[in-house]
Amino acid sequence: MMSDKINKIKVHDKEFEIFISSEKIQQTIDKMAEQINSDFGGKDVLFLVVLNGAFMFAADLLKRINFECQVSFVKLSSYVGTTSTSTVRELIGLDEVLRGRTVIIVEDIVDTGITMSNTIEKLKHLEAAEVKLATLLFKPDAFLKDFPIDYIGLEIPNDFIIGYGLDYDGLARNYPDIYTLIGKE
Ligand code: IMP
Ligand code: MG
Repeated sequence: MMSDKINKIKVHDKEFEIFISSEKIQQTIDKMAEQINSDFGGKDVLFLVVLNGAFMFAADLLKRINFECQVSFVKLSSYVGTTSTSTVRELIGLDEVLRGRTVIIVEDIVDTGITMSNTIEKLKHLEAAEVKLATLLFKPDAFLKDFPIDYIGLEIPNDFIIGYGLDYDGLARNYPDIYTLIGKE
């Protein structure tokens, strides 16, 4: 693809600058796919893509998976729990039977880890034999949990980023590169 890279973008009220190029993202996904192919070839794997953020990552990752597998998509509802501190989010759209299966969650980013710890618990209740997690991005300084993350593409600082599936208030998911906020406090 001819790339006339956009170095700065304005989304709503904020400005962002390029942070991770699409080339770097693709190289990162090459490595993740290579690992997953060598770890899981021959197993009955269900990839569970967490929408919306992971749609681009999932498309690029799964094109590189070279064994027979199923791919399914879930969304986390934005239902807000009754306690002030916790946001209870339900998994919707899951219609596969998970019992006894190997599930690999495909996620865009693990930040505090609250969303994924919640999701992993729910999948374990559905009696999946093993639940693995592949995330393109991880913010170690924001992480509040201690579950293992099996495949991490890139560790990034605790800054707000957009692009390549990630949004700021609904916008910027379409960019092939990842951008970071300019002038953070
Ligand atoms: P967590 O529960 O704090 O780990 O957050 C997970 C979700 O928050 C991710 O799946 C993203 O949808 C969103 N998120 C976390 N950090 C960012 C960011 O820097 N930009 C955009 N979305 C983010
Ligand atoms: Mg997400």
